[in-house]
Amino acid sequence: MGRVQGKIAIVTGAASDPSLGRTTAMTLAREGAKLVVTDIDEQGAQDCARKIRDAGGEAIALRQDVVSEDGWKEVIARTIETYGRLDVLVNNAGIAVLKLLDELSLDDWNRQINVNLTSVFLGTKYAVPEMRKAGGGSIVNLSSVAGLIGLQRCIAYSASKGGVRLMTKSIALEVGKDGIRCNSVHPGVIWTNMQAGARDSLSKEAGRAATANFPIGRLGEPEDIANCVLYLASDESSYVTGTEFTVDGGMTAM
Ligand SMILES: NC(=O)c1ccc[n+]([C@@H]2O[C@H](COP(=O)([O-])OP(=O)(O)OC[C@H]3O[C@@H](n4cnc5c(N)ncnc54)[C@H](O)[C@@H]3O)[C@@H](O)[C@H]2O)c1
Repeated sequence: MGRVQGKIAIVTGAASDPSLGRTTAMTLAREGAKLVVTDIDEQGAQDCARKIRDAGGEAIALRQDVVSEDGWKEVIARTIETYGRLDVLVNNAGIAVLKLLDELSLDDWNRQINVNLTSVFLGTKYAVPEMRKAGGGSIVNLSSVAGLIGLQRCIAYSASKGGVRLMTKSIALEVGKDGIRCNSVHPGVIWTNMQAGARDSLSKEAGRAATANFPIGRLGEPEDIANCVLYLASDESSYVTGTEFTVDGGMTAM
C-alpha cells in the first residue's frame, strides 16, 4: 500500500522539469494517488502525466492559468468528472518577480500577487466544497523562506509568500471542523528551473557555492520538498494543520 493510496490529488505547476510540482506529482503517484496535473504550459503538463502513466500510475493533464477563476471551476469539475472526488490540493504554481524597489512596476506587483497569492485563494475556494463532500482533505500551499524572512529583490515575492503563510493558517481555522487540513511548505534554495532562471541563469555550481555554508551544506533537490508534501498529503499528518514546514537545509536557522 502506498502512503497516499487511492487519494485524488491536484498539483498545479507540474510542467517544468526540474521543478517542485513535477517531482511532487511523480512522488504522490508513486505512493498510490491518482493525479490531476495542471500548468499554463499544457505540453509540459501532458509530459508529466505521461511519465506518471508510464511508471504505472494514473494521471490526467489539464491546461490551467491559476489566476483564472473560471479555470479553477473547470479544473475542479474535470477532477470530479474523472475520479469522482477530491482529497488533496497542492497549490504549487508560482513565479518569482525579483526586482529592486525602483525597478518594480505596479504591473509586476499585481502579476506576482495574482499568480502566487490570489491563485491559492481561488484554488482553496473551489476545492473546499468538494473536500467537504469527500469527508475531508489536505491542502498544501507552497510558500517560501521568503514568506518567513526578508530577502534581497523579494519585495513582491515576499509579500505574496508571506500572504500564503498567513492565509494558510486562517483557512485551517475555518475548515478544520470539516476534516480538512491546510499547511504551508517553505522551501529554501532548491534546484529547479525557477532557481536556475532567478539570477540571470544561475549555474548549478553557483547554487552549490551559495548554499555551502548552510547547516546542511548542499543545494536542495525537488525530492526534499516532495517528501514533505507527501507527508502532509497523507493521513500520517492527520493532526497537523495551520502550520508551516521549513525545508531549507537550516538556512533560516542561521
Ligand atoms: N525552487 C526554489 O528554490 C523555491 C524556493 C521557495 C519557494 N518555491 C516555490 O515553489 C513553487 C514551485 O517552484 P519551482 O522552483 O518548481 O518553479 P518552476 O519555475 O520550476 O515551476 C513553476 C511552474 O509553475 C508554472 N506556472 C507559472 N505561472 C503559472 C500560471 N499562471 N498558471 C499555471 N501554472 C503556472 C510554470 O509553467 C512552471 O511549470 C513556486 O510556488 C515557488 O515560488 C521554490
